[in-house]
Amino acid sequence: MTASFEAIETLDELEAIALTCTRCGLAEGRTNVVFGAGDPIADVMIVGEAPGQQEDEQGLPFVGRSGQLLEQLLGEIDLQRNDVYIANVVKCRPPRNRDPREDEIEACKPYLRRQMELIDPKVVITLGNFSSKLLLRTATGITRLRGIAYEWWGRYLVPTFHPAAALRGGERVTNDIRHDLGLVRQILDGRLSVDIPETQQPQAPEPAVDTQLGLFEST
Ligand code: URA
Repeated sequence: MTASFEAIETLDELEAIALTCTRCGLAEGRTNVVFGAGDPIADVMIVGEAPGQQEDEQGLPFVGRSGQLLEQLLGEIDLQRNDVYIANVVKCRPPRNRDPREDEIEACKPYLRRQMELIDPKVVITLGNFSSKLLLRTATGITRLRGIAYEWWGRYLVPTFHPAAALRGGERVTNDIRHDLGLVRQILDGRLSVDIPETQQPQAPEPAVDTQLGLFEST
C-alpha cells in the first residue's frame, strides 16, 4: 500500500517529507535524499534513474559526469539546467549504484507522481530504461521505445538513452539522444506534428505484464 500525497500543494512541502523518508531500505545508506532540482514550473521535466555517489553527497540530481553531458546536450537545444526540472525515479542512492529494486521504485513512486502533478510540465524526458518503462508502463526496452514522442497523460513524453549509456557507448548513442532532444525542441516550438501516420511510427510499446510498473495507474 503506497501513500498518496494529493493533499500536498507545493514542491517544498513534498521535499520536506521526502527528506525524512524511511519508506524503503535505501534510507539507511544515504547521505542525502536527492529530491529533484530546477524550475518548479518548468515546461520540461527530466526523469533519471537513481542518484549516484556525487548526487548522494551533494543532494542534487545529475551533478556527475552524466550530468555534465546532459547539460551539454540540453544546451544544444537551447535549454539551460535552470530551465528544466530534474528528478529521479528513486530519490536515494542504491548501494554500489546497483539497479533500483521494484519495491524501492514502488515506495518512491508517490513522490515522482506528485512532483509531476505539481510541476505540470508540457514535456517529460525519460532517461534510460527505468524511467521510460515505468512511465510508459511497458516491459519494452529503451532501444525500441526511443526515437518518437508519445502522448502521455495530456503531455508529451520523449524517452531517450541515459547519458551514462552515451558515456559508455560513444557518439552513436549521443547522436540518438541528440535526435530525441530535437523532438523536445520541436514540441516546445510548436513544430511537432502529433498526427504521425501509424505506418511511420516505430513499434508501439507492448503493455507491461506487471501493471504495478505504471506511475499513475496504481496507487
Ligand atoms: N544517474 C541518474 O539516473 N540520476 C542521477 O541523478 C545521476 C546519475
